[in-house]
Amino acid sequence: MKNPVRVAITGAAGNIGYQLAFRIASGDMLGKDQPVILQLLEITPALDALKGVVMELRDCAFPLLADVIATDDANVAFADTDYALLVGARPRGPGMERKDLLEANGAIFGPQGKALNAHASRDVKVLVVGNPANTNALIAQAAAPDLNPRNFTAMTRLDHNRAMWQLAEKTDKHVNDVQKMIIWGNHSATQYPDISQCTIAGQAATSQVANDWYESTFIPDVQQRGAAVIKARGASSAASAASAAIDHMRSWALGTASGDWVSMGVPADGSYGIEPGVIYSFPCVCEKGDYRIVTDLPISDFSREKMQATDEELRQERAAIEDLLR
Ligand code: NAD
Ligand code: LMR
Repeated sequence: MKNPVRVAITGAAGNIGYQLAFRIASGDMLGKDQPVILQLLEITPALDALKGVVMELRDCAFPLLADVIATDDANVAFADTDYALLVGARPRGPGMERKDLLEANGAIFGPQGKALNAHASRDVKVLVVGNPANTNALIAQAAAPDLNPRNFTAMTRLDHNRAMWQLAEKTDKHVNDVQKMIIWGNHSATQYPDISQCTIAGQAATSQVANDWYESTFIPDVQQRGAAVIKARGASSAASAASAAIDHMRSWALGTASGDWVSMGVPADGSYGIEPGVIYSFPCVCEKGDYRIVTDLPISDFSREKMQATDEELRQERAAIEDLLR
């Protein structure tokens, strides 16, 4: 049996956290041969609820669950952690402007970045799920100068999975037939779901769907899917978000399928003209516990415009919290 690895989850008593903890403990994220120690972080008022989560985790008698730690102290939750899933975030309240939300979350992700910097494994893989995910990841990254900046990522895998399903459904195929989807940019309504490289059962997707459907239905539906789920459920996506977080970490840790890639919000490095300074979603291939941005894909004028629009939004978010990055 392998040695256990430490997996921290923040907001662990919340809707996404409640899904995540059990699936990770059952081996869905890191494999059925990888024991885990769960390190669960909540705010103090939610510690009772978190106690209940811990009771249920124990009651599952998971063979891979080596230990569970529940705490309201980020320094404890991130001690020696190998993986950190930052889910807990301040939701948008009535009358709150985007800038207020960004700043409120800065007050969470700055200190958490600092705690990761001080206590986590030097190779910790960080995934930010809590919204606004890309900019929260940037804030955490800036607060952790001793960690590799590349190890701070944001989740756009849910958007990627949503886009794959929309395309499979439209063409009467299964998601297993869909490859090379791309989500560019921000996890927000400006994200750009791009099918120009996509294949469905080995054939170009662009030859199987009408351009009008792609531009007028597919793109806005993927961009607005989170809002549509909130409208239907009365709460934001939770099981699908947890599933996507597990997909993101599993791909990063164990690798992407041969001939395919995944979408990850990662620090921009100038690829495709997206200058450093934002966490931007790119197509990424993962291998041996690392990721690399897939480069040199052809970019049409249509794509370029959409990629720039979502980049601009990310730079505006950055400008709103610039003081937190110093
Ligand atoms: P939730 O309100 O059910 O749970 C959030 C939990 O975080 C709560 O239990 C809360 O007590 C906790 N929390 C708040 N501040 C904390 C802090 N400083 N430290 C530790 N825990 C803290 O919300 P949810 O449905 O689980 O969603 C969580 C976040 O994920 C939201 O920001 C949501 O918008 C976001 N989300 C992102 C995606 C994505 O694709 N990136 C998808 C769905 C939801
Ligand atoms: C989603 O994409 O489902 C969420 O990010 C929506 C939200 O605002 O919580």
